[in-house]
Amino acid sequence: MKEHIQIAIDGPASAGKSTVAKLVAKKLNYVYCDTGAMYRAITFEAMAKNISLDDDNELVNLLKKTTISFKPAVPEQLVFINDQDITQAIRQPEVTNNVSTVAAQGGVRQELVKRQQEIADAGSIVMDGRDIGTTVLPNAEIKIFLVASVKERALRRFKENQIKGIDTALDILELEIAERDRKDSTREISPLVQAKDAILVDTTSMNIEGVVQKIMEIINK
Ligand code: CDP
Ligand code: CDP
Repeated sequence: MKEHIQIAIDGPASAGKSTVAKLVAKKLNYVYCDTGAMYRAITFEAMAKNISLDDDNELVNLLKKTTISFKPAVPEQLVFINDQDITQAIRQPEVTNNVSTVAAQGGVRQELVKRQQEIADAGSIVMDGRDIGTTVLPNAEIKIFLVASVKERALRRFKENQIKGIDTALDILELEIAERDRKDSTREISPLVQAKDAILVDTTSMNIEGVVQKIMEIINK
């Protein structure tokens, strides 16, 4: 019997993973871990330090000198690199459009997967990302693969950006999301793929509450 319960939520960009993972974690009183934020954090730091985004050795050297941490806060948890609050900075389009290049580097993934497994060792967890059910937590009790049509996902991100005051055209967002999915699904190491034992949930016509309810039903079964 495992000491802690693990819930893995994977899927393509803007499928709603982090929104529903956070809500499920809150309902269960589990820790929530946003692994995408960790890839975004090292991408942000590499860009700030002018490190080439496909130089795996340099990126790993940088990562080893870098603490990435989360702090609980309302309405969203804060993300820190060392002592710097980078919560907003890592959501900027420049980081979003570069993160898949960094996330394709084997050494970077190895180091971040190790840190993610250490976080999971500390207690029951809901973790979302691309390779949680396949690589990070292969023995997770519950694995969900969350999808939605690319049009719906672009629209969701568009509305989110409007609220945040980020100006982006819907058709460009759709292209960017499709390109990020392509890169994430075709990389050699831990590509975005549904784990064999993951349950597919298509959220195209579901609202946030509906998805949370569906996942809670799967957990309670
Ligand atoms: O929230 P959004 O779907 O835009 O992306 P994210 O979850 O913040 O992840 C950003 C990027 O990090 C993804 O496009 C992947 O390239 C990478 N990532 C990954 O490779 N493995 C993970 N477990 C999580 C994210
Ligand atoms: O983490 P991931 O990139 O998969 O997606 P997210 O950041 O959780 O969600 C992207 C946007 O879609 C957010 O603004 C959510 O509020 C919204 N969303 C939605 O409108 N309907 C859903 N069923 C799920 C998320």
